[in-house]
Amino acid sequence: MACRVKAMASAVKKSSDGLRHTSHVLDQQPKEMTMKREHRKSSQAPPTLVLGATGKTGRRVASRLQALGWPIRIGTRGASPPFDWTLEKGWDACLEGIAAVYVNYPSDLPIPGSAKTISAFVDKAKRQGVRRLVLLSGRGEAEAKIWEGVVQDSGLDWTIVRASWFHQNFSEGAFVEMVHAGQIALPAGDTLEPFVDADDIADVAVAALTDPRHRGEIYELTGSRLLSFADVASEISQAVGRTIEYRSIPLDVFVADVEASGAPPEVVWTMDYLFRKALDGRNAYLTDDVTRALGRPPKAFSAFAREVAITETWRIVA
Ligand SMILES: NC(=O)c1ccc[n+]([C@@H]2O[C@H](COP(=O)([O-])OP(=O)(O)OC[C@H]3O[C@@H](n4cnc5c(N)ncnc54)[C@H](OP(=O)(O)O)[C@@H]3O)[C@@H](O)[C@H]2O)c1
Repeated sequence: MACRVKAMASAVKKSSDGLRHTSHVLDQQPKEMTMKREHRKSSQAPPTLVLGATGKTGRRVASRLQALGWPIRIGTRGASPPFDWTLEKGWDACLEGIAAVYVNYPSDLPIPGSAKTISAFVDKAKRQGVRRLVLLSGRGEAEAKIWEGVVQDSGLDWTIVRASWFHQNFSEGAFVEMVHAGQIALPAGDTLEPFVDADDIADVAVAALTDPRHRGEIYELTGSRLLSFADVASEISQAVGRTIEYRSIPLDVFVADVEASGAPPEVVWTMDYLFRKALDGRNAYLTDDVTRALGRPPKAFSAFAREVAITETWRIVA
């Protein structure tokens, strides 16, 4: 168990350091997007800054905008100019000449100190002439609402995209090692969660970045089915053709193991927060907001699992 948590903690650290691995899934962009509304193709428009553009949603947002011929600037630490949430002095160079920003904070939004960060960022964006913000948010946590409030009170056009747990946490994120190990051991009990696909989140974010009709909307994105973590393990088992178990473990044991694995304090904080607050059952209901935004239903976990199962991601390397 400890070594599994260690593997997971190191995966979370990689994620918090930025996902540098080249995941197959990110290259599987749909050839045509099935958005309800036609996007105006505009290579002349000022660029959109895509933050977290090497991460689960940001990378998808960036590639979709590029496919539409929409000019973008990548906002990551490795980009030029680099964007780093912890280095405010570098933000102006990234925001210069930018019309819209996909705001995607790398860690969990409510991490202590983050409210000051978003206020400072929005101030700078306004001063630089940014006109539109699309915020990736959590689903209703009190602290996430502080971020949303800053964006909504900014005087800029805004769209809030509240997301449930991503399918891709099991293929590109913290828990992929657990799938390899054949056991998803997490303090999630039998809580139900309406897991949502990062492709759907990216499609909604791109619609919001490119079409003013999404202005002022709060989209609360869920999949079409509530799943427990045992259901997730079962869906993955069916897709890969071997048994992946789910074992519910106590939160304090899990957090202590993450800490003992040498994970940095912000990762320990995030893991504790995720399972204590973000996954407490409050969000065990579905919305039709993917359909409302895109005119098509969300991708099912089973479809996601089948797509990943034919790649190397969940393959066990002997
Ligand atoms: N995962 C979920 O299930 C879920 C559900 C709801 C909401 N959310 C929200 O989604 C957001 C993203 O979470 P995620 O886990 O999916 O992460 P992610 O977007 O997959 O990855 C993190 C991204 O942030 C960038 N990054 C890391 N540190 C940075 C820094 N100091 N400055 C600038 N960029 C940095 C990384 O780029 P570089 O390393 O290349 O700089 C990478 O592109 C969070 O706000 C979270 O609350 C997630």
